Amino acid sequence: MTTGTPRPPIDTSRPHSARVYDSLLGGKDNYPVDQAVAQHLPAEAKAGAFQNRAFMNRATAWLAGVGVSQFLDIGTGIPTAPNLHQIAQEIEPRSRVVYCDNDPIVLRHAEALLISSPEGATDYVHADVREPATIIEAARKVLDFDRPVALSLLGLLHFLPDDQNPRAIVRTLAETLPAGSYVVLSQGASDVNPERGEQGAAEYGKGGIRLALRTRAEFARFFEGLDIVEPGLVTAPEWFRGTPAPQPEESGVYVAVARIP
Ligand SMILES: C[S@@+](CC[C@H](N)C(=O)[O-])C[C@H]1O[C@@H](n2cnc3c(N)ncnc32)[C@H](O)[C@@H]1O
Repeated sequence: MTTGTPRPPIDTSRPHSARVYDSLLGGKDNYPVDQAVAQHLPAEAKAGAFQNRAFMNRATAWLAGVGVSQFLDIGTGIPTAPNLHQIAQEIEPRSRVVYCDNDPIVLRHAEALLISSPEGATDYVHADVREPATIIEAARKVLDFDRPVALSLLGLLHFLPDDQNPRAIVRTLAETLPAGSYVVLSQGASDVNPERGEQGAAEYGKGGIRLALRTRAEFARFFEGLDIVEPGLVTAPEWFRGTPAPQPEESGVYVAVARIP
């Protein structure tokens, strides 16, 4: 993290997605405006947050298991143990992880993300995913872009409506990575339980946050040109568990991991 990164003020007059998510996960780094949104979301939103986090955990362990030791995680959120670097470094202590978020509260708590294993490294970049070149430039200080990197955007894409060109952003980021790298995405679904999705979007909308839920087919387009690995594009609880996923589907979150050919 650049020493002396200016600390923007925390705006508590309106909800922020990082803090609403923290509230759903039972964290303490949120304010009444955020809690008001979280409380009015459909009850399943909480399950979705936990399942999304559990997917991050399993996908990171899987990636570390296939030999990936560099990670670029954008839209990291407020630190929540275990954080991605803790999972990766437990398996490969030399893992190097760069985190990035644009919310001032994540920057405020970023120190928790910087406690790396001595053999590895972690860094934090305060930046907006809509400026991918800035993020890549900063990440180069820690990551070697000649070796595979796992790029993750988890729980972030549904805060990027189509008019903000999320597919072009993901493509630009992925194009900077060498063959053998991975792209890991999760996204709120509009077609798993449409009624619940509309209710959630309406609650976020009241707080001024545009929620762009997507169908399975719309989410699949993020992976054009990439090779989705097993078990494919599935809901969060279905991604490699070892035990059957709970039924009925309770997360409302699509996920997939894809290899860059
Ligand atoms: C729902 S949280 C997900 C946190 C974490 N990735 C996870 O899956 O557990 C979404 C995160 O994306 C961040 N975010 C939203 N818009 C962003 C943007 N334009 N640039 C960077 N981060 C953004 C929010 O600040 C928030 O921390």
